[in-house]
Amino acid sequence: MDQAQTKRIVLGITGGIAAYKAAELARLLVKQGIEVQVAMTEAATHFITPATMQALTGKPVLLDQWQDDKGMAHIQSSRVADAIVIAPATADFIAKLAHGLANDLLSTLCLARDCPLLVAPAMNKQMWANAATQRNVQQLLADGVTLLGPASGVQACGEEGMGRMLEAEELARDILEALQNPSLSPALSRQRERELDGVKVLITAGPTYEAIDAVRGITNRSSGKMGYAIAQAALEMGAQVTLVSGPTALTKPLGAQVVDVTSAAEMLAAVQQNVAQADVFIAVAAVADYRVSKPAAQKIKKSDASLTLELIPNPDILAYVANLPQPPFCVGFAAESEKLHEHATAKRKKKNIPLLAANLAQDAIGSDDNELVLFDDAGEHLLPRADKLTLARALLNHIVGMKKI
Ligand code: C5P
Repeated sequence: MDQAQTKRIVLGITGGIAAYKAAELARLLVKQGIEVQVAMTEAATHFITPATMQALTGKPVLLDQWQDDKGMAHIQSSRVADAIVIAPATADFIAKLAHGLANDLLSTLCLARDCPLLVAPAMNKQMWANAATQRNVQQLLADGVTLLGPASGVQACGEEGMGRMLEAEELARDILEALQNPSLSPALSRQRERELDGVKVLITAGPTYEAIDAVRGITNRSSGKMGYAIAQAALEMGAQVTLVSGPTALTKPLGAQVVDVTSAAEMLAAVQQNVAQADVFIAVAAVADYRVSKPAAQKIKKSDASLTLELIPNPDILAYVANLPQPPFCVGFAAESEKLHEHATAKRKKKNIPLLAANLAQDAIGSDDNELVLFDDAGEHLLPRADKLTLARALLNHIVGMKKI
């Protein structure tokens, strides 16, 4: 990520036992290339040390508004931040936010901000259910604050109920999504319907690379962006995602189980290992149709003589899965250079799959947006030009609508 693209967040930690999860959250965000400036309330320092957070983020932690020379840390930090995330947010801190109080560094920072505020509540179930807390939460939503969670489950006090902070991975995913798409409504992720809750989705993405010798190979032009966007969208909708990925330069979607492969044979093996558990299989990879029959172990020396390589067909991974005795719901992709309707219809029949997403290859490869036409038993459906994440969400909604899963 270059400097201009680097996203910066202020991670505010308040005084609750879930503060220990903030360490993992900071680590995950830093791993994704995000600059994380931690600010802690005094109470938070009783649960986790500033030294831990400094070591994970590489930045001194902001603790009180008088620590820098001019007492202006709050203004500086909120000026450069793309978002402020409060995780965990105690009932007390939520009350402060709802009333616009600014009597410590973190609350001052929130009041002085010019960027989205995301709040991950963490508290005992009675505190969460209390009418005052609920009133304050409603006020935050009305003020445009994004609420991340809480979740239900066993609490630190031993009771079970609503009020647990989301896990670090879930928070990191929601934060990344909010950074990518700041126009999302405050109703964001946790309130969005999770239509793929518990559904297991297996996806192939990216190109494959077939070795000719130790340094040369045959591959396809494919960035992997569409497959990764589908993985991301499926995760947002609650799916358990396994992503079998050929070589790409993309950041791995948080929360997905990623299996890195190089050749078509490796991709097939990874799919075979994971397909039995899958409810849905989406083949987005641009698999090389052929491989060299006998790749050379060493680099082939250049000479003036012509060189003949014997190419043999690769296995068709999608056709293999679609023809299993109990296949998952199979979705194929087709990049055509002409006669989209004709080729796509024939391909769907030949591969024996219920849904095929087709696009014109010259429009799609490497670009950030695309236009898809879906082919199924009901006919053709156009998904109009949009960025690949938007298209991925529309595709998954279509799959849910087909009621096969
Ligand atoms: O036959 P064609 O390559 O055009 O089909 C494209 C679809 O089949 C894509 O979904 C692609 O991921 C899948 N495919 C595959 N294994 C292959 C070739 C294609 O899974 N060897």
